[in-house]
Amino acid sequence: METQIIKGNIISAPEFGKIDITENGYLIAEDGKIKGIYQKLPQDYENLKIEDYGDALVMQSFADMHLHAPQYPMLGMGMDMPLLDWLNTYTFPTEACFKDTEFARKTYHRLAGELAAKGTTRVCIFSSIHREATLILMEELENAGITGYVGKVNMDRNGGENYQETTEESISETIKWLEACSFEHIKPMITPRFTPSCSNELMQELGRIANEKKVPIQSHLSENTGELDWVKELHPDCKQYWETYRKYGLWNDKTLMAHCVWSDERERKGIKNAGVWAVHCPSSNENLVSGYAPVRMMLNEGLNVVLGSDIAGGDHLSMFKNITAAIRASKARRIMDNWKTDFLTVEEAFYLGTSAAAPFFGENPGFAPGNMLHAIVVEDGTLPMVRPLSVHERFERCVYRREHGGVVAVYSEGKKIYSK
Ligand code: GUN
Ligand code: FE
Repeated sequence: METQIIKGNIISAPEFGKIDITENGYLIAEDGKIKGIYQKLPQDYENLKIEDYGDALVMQSFADMHLHAPQYPMLGMGMDMPLLDWLNTYTFPTEACFKDTEFARKTYHRLAGELAAKGTTRVCIFSSIHREATLILMEELENAGITGYVGKVNMDRNGGENYQETTEESISETIKWLEACSFEHIKPMITPRFTPSCSNELMQELGRIANEKKVPIQSHLSENTGELDWVKELHPDCKQYWETYRKYGLWNDKTLMAHCVWSDERERKGIKNAGVWAVHCPSSNENLVSGYAPVRMMLNEGLNVVLGSDIAGGDHLSMFKNITAAIRASKARRIMDNWKTDFLTVEEAFYLGTSAAAPFFGENPGFAPGNMLHAIVVEDGTLPMVRPLSVHERFERCVYRREHGGVVAVYSEGKKIYSK
């Protein structure tokens, strides 16, 4: 058995809003699986090698539950349009470039490396419509030590001239792609881009495939008001947007729906009752002027809420930045709600970027025994201090300052995948 002993200030989020800190503690994993956190090294482990990170913070790594890999080259550009114009003008032409497998290999290699270096060890990612590039993305993530799900995007309408499949192509390429997936830590996810991109026939078939092969599902929901109107026109038989997914069997407790900015009480009930996961993407919602999602209401109502960077609607891969974006968005929402909804605390938002996704991957929140080891080590020794800070204060500052180069080591699925 391989034993790992990591020493440092161990910080985890075992419950929503709660942070556990073990100062100068030991995080022990056996064969990649967490055994426990100890204040004092248990006798059985006394003669084993320790990875001693001194006064550094050892925290849970991040889960980015919604991002678009083929939008990585446009990160930080083209933020001057609302969603539907932004898709047609910048996004679809950029994604179309991933027909070129060499370009895909280079770009995805770099993306996978950056995710690892930033401490994101779990992902649910949209690829493009291309089967080959999607397999390349999966391979690059697997090789970089990232875990999670990737989806070949399906779209048989409204993609413009260069970025659309026929219905038959979309279905047959998806089946071929699913048969070619053989990665240990990166699994496939059925990915209808969003209702306006998929004909009823395609939606029906994707629902059938997802249910037959027991594959999880990801898509977009109620991000922007123009999109809502469009979906209403396309599906006059559905009272609300979410019902267009439910109608075709794309609505269950392994379904991730990005955004839910405009989900009212009835739609939120639809999400809650099915156990669907709402992926909050605050950076993207601000950049594309989509709105401020009712995150506190969702949480109070018991919905599953997780976080996504949604690059390149979002402008940062770093989940530290997306966690603080979620806090700020919740404050804007508080103002909009006449101060009736509480904003997110640092502890709550950190939970959303880490532990909240654990059950999606069959694990428990925090550094729970039995979880695979997913952790980052953060150094903050170069930051100025007016007085000695508590570890809790250092944690808060570290989340907000997300100092470049602060992440010095990253562990994923028990393996060290990055060290500075
Ligand atoms: N809705 C459909 N496609 C997209 C996308 O690529 N990004 C965002 N933010 N929303 C979408
Ligand atoms: Fe998105």
